[in-house]
Amino acid sequence: MWLNSLLHRTVLTTLGLLMVTSVSASVFAEPTADRQQELRHLLKHDCGSCHGMTLKGGLGPALLPENLASKPDEVLKQTIIHGRPPTPMPPWMGILTEEEIDWLVMLLRKGDIDA
Ligand code: HEC
Repeated sequence: MWLNSLLHRTVLTTLGLLMVTSVSASVFAEPTADRQQELRHLLKHDCGSCHGMTLKGGLGPALLPENLASKPDEVLKQTIIHGRPPTPMPPWMGILTEEEIDWLVMLLRKGDIDA
């Protein structure tokens, strides 16, 4: 019956849309505004304890956009996730989620560290 197949198609389309929406949400998910504030604080105070509060370098190298320009996102991300044994750069896996690390890498690239 045509009404039945129309209904069926509508349900399938809706399911399809829901799946597309949830996939794109997980790709583009950003930390909440509150969490972004916490991450900015962490970047300045925790990362900053080694990399300098303005990320110009200290025990760890400078993390300003010009220092990172030649390094792919994936390298920076893996460095933050796993650290760089045996250097003092610690792993942040378990403390930060992958999405939060992506967001931090984006922040470092933009040099957007003071807001
Ligand atoms: C205990 C000190 C310490 C802390 C805390 C620390 N780092 Fe590091 N980090 C280092 C050192 C040392 C290196 C250099 C490793 C090497 O010699 O390859 C490094 C390297 C890096 C690199 C790679 C830079 C490059 O030029 O390849 C990134 C990115 C980075 N750190 C980000 C962070 C972030 C983000 C945080 C905070 C979430 C953080 N670090 C906290 C010590 C630290």
